[in-house]
Amino acid sequence: MVKNKVDTVDILLLDFEEVATPKDTYRKPISGDAQNDVMVLENGGIAIRDGRIVEVSNSRELERKYDAERVFRYPGKTAIPGFVDPHTHLVYGGCRHREFELRLRGVPYVEILKAGGGINDTVAQTRALDESALYSLARQRLRTAIAHGTTSIEIKSGYGLDVENELKILRVIDRLRRENEITVVPTFLGAHAIPPEYRRDRAGYVRLVVEKMLPEFRGLAEFVDVFMDEGAFTAEETAWIFREALKLGYRLKLHADELAPTGGAELAAEFGAVSADHLVKISDEGIRKMAQAGTIAVLLPATTFMLRHREYAPARKLIESGVPVALATDHNPGTSPVISQAISMGLATMMMDMTPAEALTAATLNAAYAIGAGEETGSLESGKWADVAILDAHSYVHTVYEFGRNLVTAVFRRGELIHET
Ligand code: NIG
Ligand code: FE
Repeated sequence: MVKNKVDTVDILLLDFEEVATPKDTYRKPISGDAQNDVMVLENGGIAIRDGRIVEVSNSRELERKYDAERVFRYPGKTAIPGFVDPHTHLVYGGCRHREFELRLRGVPYVEILKAGGGINDTVAQTRALDESALYSLARQRLRTAIAHGTTSIEIKSGYGLDVENELKILRVIDRLRRENEITVVPTFLGAHAIPPEYRRDRAGYVRLVVEKMLPEFRGLAEFVDVFMDEGAFTAEETAWIFREALKLGYRLKLHADELAPTGGAELAAEFGAVSADHLVKISDEGIRKMAQAGTIAVLLPATTFMLRHREYAPARKLIESGVPVALATDHNPGTSPVISQAISMGLATMMMDMTPAEALTAATLNAAYAIGAGEETGSLESGKWADVAILDAHSYVHTVYEFGRNLVTAVFRRGELIHET
């Protein structure tokens, strides 16, 4: 027993080539130049007690200071915050590789959507499965996300589109949340598409969402989201849903300005939404309003890539205008089967001119704020949960540099080792 140790901890993670993390200095989403400020500590380590980070510092320093029950050594590796994926549609039945092939032959996504395919195809395949089958599929996908370094995830409903099936999906999300393997934040997206049985009665469907689903799902969802776009929901329909959702205590997110500029960003900012997502076609006025309101921009470059659209969201303009930018996979069977936040980061740097540091902040701390978890996770700092992804690389920059290779070799969540290769 060495006498001069000052304290005891449960776990020491030591000898990293690099510990890299955004800093949550202001306890709010990071915007502007600060999004590029990533702290890089060479030969760093992390001391953990009761699942939380006690200190991030030089490894020798930590060894001098702390006695630990367990010590893990990671020479040559890099520690980053566990990824936060703030926009996914993880619970669904079936797949859409046939539609994917159609799109490869040039049929546009909106045309498929308007013809009743796309989302409604997955709705049919999801309605056909019972809760336990749906749960098994979602659980497998969750494990895959973990293997890619994700320790917090937002999951939307939206492939049920009637009371019974939306409830079934929300119950699956709730089960994943209660199992608490990683942090799961549930979002109700009843307004994802008009289901076939309401094709001639749009207002009737929105009324069902507002009058029946919103009140009934209160205990099962934290956020309410709407797919507002060309071929999807209008500004008026979205405002109706948002007004009622706010009265019931939900927080808001919006699929905004992805396919056409329909004023989604402006509307999200006006309603005080936590985030507006996609934003490929955002207007200058939308950018100004989001900056002013502090709305987080959740960008989904994997979706743009998989749709083979040439135009990406204006990440540089958003950052330079003071809008905090986050990244997400948008994992779903139609537009983005991608489940890796490292891929989101890679596309953000290669296609949207973000720096690797900005992309890291976007996929961790800003993403955490986008799901209301920024105070608890998203950076490696004392007091936060010890949610850590360990990379088989000597710098976090390799996340984007070695595009397409999963570098994640171990994942700690709240101080517990939940994945190892
Ligand atoms: O975020 N844009 C709307 N929802 C999904 C696509 C869902 C689907 O095509 O099944 C998205 O891209
Ligand atoms: Fe989406």
